[in-house]
Amino acid sequence: MILILYTTRYRQGSPMFKRAAETLAGEKAAVYKGPVLCRGIVHKKEVSDLFRQLAEEGKYIHEYHFVGHSGMYGPMYGTVEYPEQFSPHEWQQMHIPFAADARAYFHCCRSARWFAAFFARTFSVETFGYYWYTGFSRRTDYFGRVRSESDPVYAIGCKGRKSHGIIGSLKKYTRSEPLEKMRSFSPSEFTEDRSYDKVAALYDAVFQDIKVRRDEWNWLCRHLPDLQDKTVLDIGCGNGALLKELAPTVQQGIGVDVSAGILEKAAQMHAQNTNICFHRLQGPVLPLADQSVDIAVSLLSFRYLDWDPLMAELKRVLKPGGRILIVDMITVPVKKREIPVFLRHKLQMYIQKYRARNFQRSLSELVNHPDWKHMIKYNPIRAEHEMKWYLESRFPGRRTEKINIGWNASILAFDSGPIEHMNTIHLTYP
Ligand SMILES: C[S@@+](CC[C@H](N)C(=O)[O-])C[C@H]1O[C@@H](n2cnc3c(N)ncnc32)[C@H](O)[C@@H]1O
Repeated sequence: MILILYTTRYRQGSPMFKRAAETLAGEKAAVYKGPVLCRGIVHKKEVSDLFRQLAEEGKYIHEYHFVGHSGMYGPMYGTVEYPEQFSPHEWQQMHIPFAADARAYFHCCRSARWFAAFFARTFSVETFGYYWYTGFSRRTDYFGRVRSESDPVYAIGCKGRKSHGIIGSLKKYTRSEPLEKMRSFSPSEFTEDRSYDKVAALYDAVFQDIKVRRDEWNWLCRHLPDLQDKTVLDIGCGNGALLKELAPTVQQGIGVDVSAGILEKAAQMHAQNTNICFHRLQGPVLPLADQSVDIAVSLLSFRYLDWDPLMAELKRVLKPGGRILIVDMITVPVKKREIPVFLRHKLQMYIQKYRARNFQRSLSELVNHPDWKHMIKYNPIRAEHEMKWYLESRFPGRRTEKINIGWNASILAFDSGPIEHMNTIHLTYP
């Protein structure tokens, strides 16, 4: 069968997604001999339920198409107020009944940055996606504005950073840029090592002192409560530099990380600290007792984590009154009104570069190293809307804040505040 799914509510793109999916379904039905199923999706659970149902009925998918919005880590479902996305772990747990020669097409923005390659590997199917952004057109060979209800609608690839802004629109309307063709990914093309294992020594050499990350450290200092008698969990702890700073004040510090290589470095750093221990994670399960943690911190690691499954675990391990602090980098172009702050941060960065020349030298060695570049390729930074809307929806009433603004990337920080009742964390659609 051919399965075409489209999202209906996320970011108000719905009428066009539906029309694009229906145009595609009509064209497929005209040439394909088997059934073509075209369905609108609100919640991610409908997707996994549908795959399960098809598998139980012994149906095989020859072509799978998704038309909708995508974050850096794949399709978005739900709504802007409560976005939903399958995390890498959730995809890996899913069974999709693909036929042997199946293909999967993601007609959505940025699906070829990371997700299409991941999907190809995970499900052993050839997968297609767009590196840049998508728009809607009544033609597939060039951009043609959809004029009437009877026009066919196609999701097309529009090259360029700002395809959604003025420049992108100009390029589209003047047809000065050819459309982007879908990029394909085969299951065998990539041998992925997403871990920090290969870069552990380089990373450790650069980040011995957490305070070199001035903005992040200052924000944490302002938001960490009194740590006497407290158990702090550091998720994605890396070489343990944050726990090194906290060790003298906390009762217990627990670092968890997926990389065995980086945990070795952490163990070396903390050889003398009897109140600090480390665990290796294999999946989003925390090897900790219920209600055993006061504060959970994730510093520059949240983008990698399996959000919903991990949040469910945090709900379990946090004590009543527990708190979650998250600081991470996101991709987002600077906004006009942010330019004065951007310039101030840029100036501070140059001053810091000058003051900490040794650190800057080793940092530039790290980021220019081929192993680092390889690792980054498999661990992209999330888009702002993915992380901001995720956190603000799971913790109603709490807001993220930008603590450093760059030209194309910023640092986002989030403090859940003390959580008296874990059921105030919304992990199901409210
Ligand atoms: C940029 S480093 C940050 C390390 C440390 N928090 C710091 O600020 O120096 C990201 C860390 O996240 C870890 N990581 C990546 N994926 C992970 C996962 N799924 N679960 C736990 N840790 C993960 C990496 O191994 C790495 O140590």
